[in-house]
Amino acid sequence: MAEDLHIPHGVSKEEVYKALYPQLQALTDGEPDLIANMANITSALKEAFGFFWVGFYRVVDDKLVLGPFQGPPACTRIMYGKGVCGTAWKEGRTLIVPDVDKFPGHIACSSLSRSEIVIPVKKGDSVTAVLDVDSDRPDHFDEIDAFYLEKICSLFG
Ligand code: SME
Repeated sequence: MAEDLHIPHGVSKEEVYKALYPQLQALTDGEPDLIANMANITSALKEAFGFFWVGFYRVVDDKLVLGPFQGPPACTRIMYGKGVCGTAWKEGRTLIVPDVDKFPGHIACSSLSRSEIVIPVKKGDSVTAVLDVDSDRPDHFDEIDAFYLEKICSLFG
């Protein structure tokens, strides 16, 4: 397929997610390489929404290791149960953090990050990676982001 993205403008974020999802499906379809898929997904999300930081951390043994991302350089390793990412991994569920300063143990890779959402990527019951999205404004993420980002994360695992 052509790799150009078609992103509608002047519509709700739900409409943007709806337009993006089939394009991500087509981009990842038949591509077994995890890193390639993660790279294209982070690029597409950055293009579509201009998120401050969007990236994956992969589960490697007992920790999360930084994978493909878009945005400023970030922490490379996060321990199980630590920070928002390690907690989402441990609990196996999406975490929406409206104010990072109020999340106990939040790991500040950038002082500009104000709110965050982390979605576990699963293969069967086990978490293989997490998708982390950071915003430089508070209370950026809601259930619409959670719903569509989970759907995107279920494209691979
Ligand atoms: N804030 C995350 C760390 C990763 S960076 O935001 C990119 C956390 O608390 O796990």
